[in-house]
Amino acid sequence: MSSINYSDKIPNNVNLSDDRRLQRALEQWQPHFLDWWKAMGPDGSHNFDVYLRTAIDVSPKGWAHFDTVKMPDYRWGIFLADKEEDRRIGFGMHKGQPAWQDVPGEYRSELRRLIVTQGDTEPASVEQQRRLGLTAPSLYDLRNLFQINVEEGRHLWAMVYLLHAYFGRDGREEADALLTRHSGDADKPRILSAFNVPTDDWLCFYFFCYFQDRDGKFQLHALSESGFDPLSRTCKFMLTEEAHHMFVGETGVGRVIQRSAELSRQHDTLDIRTFGGVDLPTLQKYLNFYYSICLDLFGQEKSTNAANFYSMGIKGRYEEGSIDDDHILEGLTYKVPEISGDRIVLADMPALTAVNERLRDDYRVDSQKGVDRWNKTIADLGVDFKFTLPHQAFHRNIGSFAGLPITPDGKVIAKDEWARRRDDWLPSESDKAFVATLMQRVVEPGKIAGWVAPPARGIHGKPFEYEYVKFS
Ligand SMILES: [Fe+2]
Ligand SMILES: [Fe+2]
Repeated sequence: MSSINYSDKIPNNVNLSDDRRLQRALEQWQPHFLDWWKAMGPDGSHNFDVYLRTAIDVSPKGWAHFDTVKMPDYRWGIFLADKEEDRRIGFGMHKGQPAWQDVPGEYRSELRRLIVTQGDTEPASVEQQRRLGLTAPSLYDLRNLFQINVEEGRHLWAMVYLLHAYFGRDGREEADALLTRHSGDADKPRILSAFNVPTDDWLCFYFFCYFQDRDGKFQLHALSESGFDPLSRTCKFMLTEEAHHMFVGETGVGRVIQRSAELSRQHDTLDIRTFGGVDLPTLQKYLNFYYSICLDLFGQEKSTNAANFYSMGIKGRYEEGSIDDDHILEGLTYKVPEISGDRIVLADMPALTAVNERLRDDYRVDSQKGVDRWNKTIADLGVDFKFTLPHQAFHRNIGSFAGLPITPDGKVIAKDEWARRRDDWLPSESDKAFVATLMQRVVEPGKIAGWVAPPARGIHGKPFEYEYVKFS
C-alpha cells in the first residue's frame, strides 16, 4: 500500500502528520473510500477535468480555492472550524462546564450513533445522484452536481475522521460500514429512508438540494451546538459548504420555475408540456414529495432519544445561544401538533421531548423563504400560480401522522379518497415518465436544455459559457 503525503494529498488543519496512529487508520480507510467513489460515485466521470472548489483552509477568505481538477484526484480534506477559547457547554445538565475535548465515556455510544447517522447521509446522497451526470441540462449544472458530490465525500471524511480519532476500534468498524451500506440496497440500505429514495431526474436533484440539504443544515446546526468540541467544530465548517448545496437547490428550482412561468405566459396556459416545459402544478407535486420526506428526517414529534441527547449536552437546538430560556428545559412546554378525532390540533408537550419538533418548525420557517422567492418570480411574470408548502401532516411516514390519509392542506380524509387523489398531490408514474423525456444531456459550453432557464451568473466570476467540465 502506498503511503500518502497527507499535508499534500489531504489538506487538513488537524495536524494529521503528527498523529501516527490516526494517520495509519486513515491510510487503511482511504483506498476503500476511493474504491467506493469509483464504484458508487458519479457515473463515468473519472477522466473529467472539473472546475471545482476545494477547501484548503478554514479562514473566511481562504477556504474556497478554485481550480480545475480530475475528479478522483480531488483533495478530500479534513477541517475543523477554529477553536473557540474557553468554550462552554451551552445547554443540558452540563451547561456552563468546559466543552469536552475528548468523548465523555458515559456518552460514547450516543455520540457515535449521532456521528454515524450524520456520516451515513453523506455518501448516501452521492449514491442517490450518481447517474444524473448523464442527463445534465448544462455544463454549469454538471459542475454544480460534481461540486456537491465531492463535498458530500468530504463530509464523509469529516465524520470518518471523528470516528477514527475518537472512537478506537468500534469507530474504525463504523467507518468501514459507512462504505458498505448503500442507498436503496435491499440488504444493507442507508440508515434514513429519504436517503434510499432514487434521485431520478434533475427536478428531483434541485428539490433534493433545496429540501434535503436543508435538513442537513439544521442537523449540522444542532450538532454544532454539541458539548463534544471536535464534533461542534467539524459541523461548523461543514455548514459553509452546505450553503452552496442549498443555493444550487433554490436557484435550480427557481430556474425551472422561471422557464415554466415564461412558457405559461407566452402560451397563455399552465399546460405547457407540449412546449417542452414542466408545468407548474407538476413542480408543486415534486415539492410536496421532497418536503414531506424531509420532514420525516427530523424524527418523532415526541422523542425520549432527542430529550436525552439534549440533556446530555451532545445535540442542541437550532441557534441554541440565541434562544431566550434556561437551556435546560425542565418544566417548560412546547406546542406539538397531534391528531384529535379527524382534526389536527396543537397540544402542549414537555419541551425536552419536543426538541425534534422544534427543529422541524425552524426548518419549516426556513423552507418557506425560498418558496416566497419562487412565487415572486411567477408573480413578476404575471402568471397566476402560487406554490405552497404542504401541511406538516401530509404524506408522512414517521411520527404521529405516519400513514394517515391527510391532504396537503391538512384535512383528514378517508383512506380510499386519499389513494384516489394521490396522483393530484405527488408525482405520478406518468409525470415522472414525462419529466424523463425532457432529461436530455446538454454539454456544449453556453448551451442549456429547454426546460430550465440559464443561471443569472456563473461560478466564481466565470461566465455561464465557461467550459466548467472538460471531457477527455
Ligand atoms: Fe453533507
Ligand atoms: Fe449537502
